[in-house]
Amino acid sequence: MDLFDAIAHRFSYRGPFLDQPVPREDLRRIVQAGLLAPSGCNEQTTTFVIVDDPALRQQIQAMHPKNVAMRQARAYIACLVDKAPIGVYEGLSFQVEDCSAAVENILLAATALGYATVWVDGWLRGDERGETIARLLGAPEGKTVRVILPLGRPADPNAPRQTKKPFEERAWFNRYGAAGSAKDGERKGPA
Ligand SMILES: Cc1cc2nc3c(=O)[nH]c(=O)nc-3n(C[C@H](O)[C@H](O)[C@H](O)COP(=O)(O)O)c2cc1C
Repeated sequence: MDLFDAIAHRFSYRGPFLDQPVPREDLRRIVQAGLLAPSGCNEQTTTFVIVDDPALRQQIQAMHPKNVAMRQARAYIACLVDKAPIGVYEGLSFQVEDCSAAVENILLAATALGYATVWVDGWLRGDERGETIARLLGAPEGKTVRVILPLGRPADPNAPRQTKKPFEERAWFNRYGAAGSAKDGERKGPA
């Protein structure tokens, strides 16, 4: 699938999955896309645990009773960061940005291979669920799962999509909020 098609087709899928395992070759390709993402100072701070073991999957599934995708995932990609990140540039940490860039690459790669998933983040931050899953996966102390992606072939590929605001409402050439700024190179308003 072409990159722009993958971007257009990606959406947050929270529905049921087909009862089909996700081959490791596909999981590796999808996570490799995350490894290739940019990161602040190239520190590559996000680490990943791919969960396809049935017993581990069951333990994660039991933790999220509401989200159907989380309950039925054929595999999970857990994205881990440090709970207390150390700054890498003038005291600044880029761990959240690093993780987000990797996750977006992973979402697009999964879409390109015909899988569906959803970025699960907020749920992990309640009741120390991110830490609990990190321990379950054998991560060292100090690591937490910042994002988890339930993955599988969608049983309902036509599940409803969120709408996105049009270009003109969120993006402009040269000047914030400029009306009629779509023409190439044309400068509107005072110089
Ligand atoms: C930082 C971030 C956190 C998110 N956390 C969750 C979450 O915890 N649970 C969930 O179901 N979706 C979560 N989402 C998915 C958003 O709800 C979704 O991206 C948004 O509604 C737009 O829909 P779309 O992904 O289909 O374009 C998260 C997305 C982002 C970028």
